Amino acid sequence: MTAAVSTGPLLADGFGRRFPYLRLSLTEACNFSCSYCLPDGYQADGRPRFLEVDEIGRLVRAFATLGMHKIRLTGGEPSLRRDLDQIIERVAGTPGIRKVAITTNGTLLPRRLPGWHRAGLTALNVSMDSLRRERFHAITGHDRLPEILEGLELAQAIGLPSVKLNAVLLRGLNDDELPAWMEFLRERPLSVRFIELMRTGDNADYFQRHHLSASTVVEQLLAAGWRLRPRAADAGPAREYTHPAHRGSIGVIAPYSQDFCQGCNRLRVTARGDLRLCLFGEFGVPLRPLLQHDDDRDALLARITTQLGLKAAGHGLHQGRTGLTPNLASIGG
Ligand code: 5AD
Ligand code: SF4
Repeated sequence: MTAAVSTGPLLADGFGRRFPYLRLSLTEACNFSCSYCLPDGYQADGRPRFLEVDEIGRLVRAFATLGMHKIRLTGGEPSLRRDLDQIIERVAGTPGIRKVAITTNGTLLPRRLPGWHRAGLTALNVSMDSLRRERFHAITGHDRLPEILEGLELAQAIGLPSVKLNAVLLRGLNDDELPAWMEFLRERPLSVRFIELMRTGDNADYFQRHHLSASTVVEQLLAAGWRLRPRAADAGPAREYTHPAHRGSIGVIAPYSQDFCQGCNRLRVTARGDLRLCLFGEFGVPLRPLLQHDDDRDALLARITTQLGLKAAGHGLHQGRTGLTPNLASIGG
C-alpha cells in the first residue's frame, strides 16, 4: 500500500496522479429512464436524504484547500434539486474554485439556465444520445429533444464559456449518426463526446447487445480529416478531434482503452456524501459525518488524504468487475 502525498497544494496518489477535479453528485433521482442506465426510471428507496447546501459548502472548501479547482455537479439529474442555484453559488464562491460545471439531461435548461449562470456556472454538459427526435425518445424514454435544443441555443446566447454534449455510443441505436453530428458542428462551437457504453451492475444484457468500441468513431474521424488536439491538465477523459472546416469538436471517451486510468485526474463524492476513489471502485468512504460542523475540518482533510493513498491503479472493468455501481445514476458518471 502506498501513502498519499500532498505535493505542494495539490493532492497526488501513490501513482503520481494529481486530482484537480471533483465530481459531486447532488441526487440519485432522475426524470429520464435511459435504456442503459435507469430503464424502469428512478425508484426512491427511502434512505437518508442527499447532502444539504451547508454540507456541500464544507465539503467543497476542504477539497479546495487540497488544491482542487474544478467541481462538476452531477446526479442522477442535478437540476431536480430545487436549491440548485444556491448550491452553484456556494460552490462558485468557495476560494480556490475556478470552474463550476454541471452534467444534465437538459430538460430544464430553458427555464433554469439563466439562474445557474447568474449563480456562477461556467460549464455545461448536456446528455444527448441522438440528433433524431424519435430515437432520442426511444433511448431516454422521453420526447424532450426540442426543449434540449432550445436550451443549447440559450446557452450559446448567454455566452457560457464551455458547452459540451455527451452521446453514449450504442450499437444499432445511434451508431450511424457521425455524419449528422459533423454537420451539426459545422457552425456551432460546441464539443460532442461519444462515450463508449460501460457495463454496470444492472445492464449486463444491454451491454452485450449494444456495446461498440469507440475506436470505430476514431477511424471515421481520421478518415474524414479530423485531427487529435492536445489535452489540458484538468480536462476530462475525452480525446478531442478538430477539423478546420468545422467550428465544433468531437471527442471520444473510451473507458476500456489501455491507458484510460493513467489519465485519471478526478475523485467522486456521492449524493449521500461517500468519497468514491474510482467510478467502479469496490468501496466508498463516508465523509458526511465530518460535514456537520466547521470544527471537523482537519479530520475531514485527514480522511480524504488517507483514502487517496488507497486509490488503485485501474478499474476492474476488463475482468467484468463493476464494483459498487449498479447504474451511473447512482454515482453521476
Ligand atoms: N455507459 C456510458 N455512459 C453512461 N452514462 C450513463 N450511463 C452510462 C453507461 N453505462 C452517461 C450519461 C451521461 C454521462 C454522465 O454518463 O448519458 O451523459
Ligand atoms: Fe438519468 Fe443520466 Fe441515467 Fe439518463 S443517464 S437515466 S439522464 S441519470
